[in-house]
Amino acid sequence: MIPPKQVQDILDATRIEEVIEEFVTLRRRGVNLIGLCPFHGEKTPSFNVNPTRNIFKCFGCGKGGDAITFLKEHESLTYVDALKWLAKKYNIEIQETERTPEQVAEMQLTDSLYIVNEFALKHFQEQLFDTDEGKSVALAYFKQRGLREDTIRAFGLGYAPEQRDLLLRRARATGHNLDLVKKVGLCSQDGGRDFFRGRVMFAIHNISGKIAAFAGRTMSSEKTIPKYINSPETEIYIKNKTLYGAFQAKKAIRQLDECLLVEGYMDVISLYQAGIENVVASSGTSLTEGQLQLIKRNTNNLKILYDGDPAGIKAALRGLDLALEQDLNVRICLLPDGHDPDSYVQTFGGDAFTKFTTDNAKDFILFKTELLLEETKGDPMRKAGLVKDIVASISKIPDPIKRSLYLKECSALLEVSEQALIGESNKLITTVLKKRDEKAARQPGAASDYPPNTGGYDWPTEPPPVGDPTEQIGSFPPRREGEGMSRSDEFQERDIVRLLVQFGNQMLDKEGVSVSEFILSDIGESLSDFDNSLYGKLASLCYDLMLEQKNTDHNYFIHHAEKEISDLAIDLLTSPWDLSPNWEARWGYPLQNQPVPDLNFDTDMRQALDRFKLRKLTKLCNIVNPARIKTASDAGDIDEVMRLMRIQEKLKSTRNELAKKTGTIVLPK
Ligand code: UTP
Ligand code: MN
Repeated sequence: MIPPKQVQDILDATRIEEVIEEFVTLRRRGVNLIGLCPFHGEKTPSFNVNPTRNIFKCFGCGKGGDAITFLKEHESLTYVDALKWLAKKYNIEIQETERTPEQVAEMQLTDSLYIVNEFALKHFQEQLFDTDEGKSVALAYFKQRGLREDTIRAFGLGYAPEQRDLLLRRARATGHNLDLVKKVGLCSQDGGRDFFRGRVMFAIHNISGKIAAFAGRTMSSEKTIPKYINSPETEIYIKNKTLYGAFQAKKAIRQLDECLLVEGYMDVISLYQAGIENVVASSGTSLTEGQLQLIKRNTNNLKILYDGDPAGIKAALRGLDLALEQDLNVRICLLPDGHDPDSYVQTFGGDAFTKFTTDNAKDFILFKTELLLEETKGDPMRKAGLVKDIVASISKIPDPIKRSLYLKECSALLEVSEQALIGESNKLITTVLKKRDEKAARQPGAASDYPPNTGGYDWPTEPPPVGDPTEQIGSFPPRREGEGMSRSDEFQERDIVRLLVQFGNQMLDKEGVSVSEFILSDIGESLSDFDNSLYGKLASLCYDLMLEQKNTDHNYFIHHAEKEISDLAIDLLTSPWDLSPNWEARWGYPLQNQPVPDLNFDTDMRQALDRFKLRKLTKLCNIVNPARIKTASDAGDIDEVMRLMRIQEKLKSTRNELAKKTGTIVLPK
């Protein structure tokens, strides 16, 4: 354990920009630094680093946090390892508190298991590259399969000759503990023979690049010999949490925001060599939850490449509901007959591969529907089963809007009424909810946490309506209020009104119009949407004046007949920067403007306008549109839902643009 005092020392020493600059090229923009986001692919920088608050935020993908978060995400470090990384950078010596003897033993065990594997990797590599047998047999085999030497090294490939105990003897000679060699499965349990013999070797890395295990492939095509043999599970090799290639692929997965999933080791390696680096393998088994979480940490988009026969594919599809539950967007691509990813890319090259998989990937649900439909043609009994199967998959999707879109599409494909599908789906969801309720009730204290945190799994929290079975339940996720951010736009409105009163009749050189003309032609439509009716009233007054082409001198407002207007005008003119000390906390963005000299009204105005629009847009994004989407989705108007979702996207990107411009952190709602 690192003592709390030292944790604080480390955090105090940390400058976020210095940490991030080790990985991302940053350049200064105002008080912030910006760069290309390392977590998603982008060509124009939306990755912001704020040195004063010691945080980063990407307006493109939404990732944000402090230096620890950055290291955890970017380098896949644990909290403690991130602290250690920082301590090293800032030359802070960590005096860890006493560990229990068990903890020490466990740490030492995992460390030493890795050390044994490192030793074995070196051994296998030497056998491959530095011995005549290795070169003529194994290296020749890899080259014959199209692998280059740099690829062979990058993936830690090697060779275990046929000899009985070559590795064991080396281990003994170099003073390695034979119990550990046994433990990682490199020799037989009696310690008499090497486990891997007469095989080419594949190192299996964990996500941070340490050697967790090995696989050995026979070079013989003899059917009675197992093609691959693998290290056993150990403390450092937990199969269902490991994805082959994840270490090499993780950067590309983030940048391309997509993960390709293949079956075999060779598929990963060949694709990587061809420049398709965002690829991992499940190693011949169906995907586990642990593996999906590994993917989910890096992207929401999963493209699965299948070769093989329909029966095999059907079996594979069954496991994929798990991916839907994780809210991954799953696409499936079938390779042409007789090809696996390895043979395809070795034959046709990387570009052809990318083109093929882009053109042929299909949405998982629709793919499954079409595949099963093909088989049940003309058999109503089997079709009923199929409908249930598909609806079960759809019901696993946490996002209600996505669910309703699928139900709509599948209803057309299956030629079953949408209402029937919705009814079936509601039944399934209700069952799941009930089970969850029961479970929550059984666990003491758990009821208060309801709905339990299921990793973004947004099941509807309302009990489903009894009665109308055709209404899709949970079609709208409960709205979360922004935390720590005022829901009123009064501050931004006040700033606009201040500008109108203070500088309304000043001319803008560039535009040749007055400040009030500029402001009101920009936001004139929003005047009725002001949260503060008095501010709205003053702005409207000004608008009327503008239409009548009257001067909007501040004297007009100061001497206005209505007392509340004249009071406000005086207030605005005398104490425009009288802000409460905690206003950053209240209004959700840092105070950037100092009292502005009158000459600066141009910049002042543009910034105020941007912030005003940002607020109004954020509100639109968060409230107005979702409400309309709900209405449309309730009415079953999918086209309208799609249209509104596109508007929503557009609104969000405009808002993010504005946020970037104003240097504002948009809190996720
Ligand atoms: P493949 O037979 O497709 O292997 O099995 P591959 O990686 O493409 O190898 P090549 O191209 O024939 O050389 C897919 C995966 O299933 C696991 C391995 O992880 C393999 O990569 N597998 C296969 C085993 O674990 N044991 C086996 O005997 C066969
Ligand atoms: Mn293969």
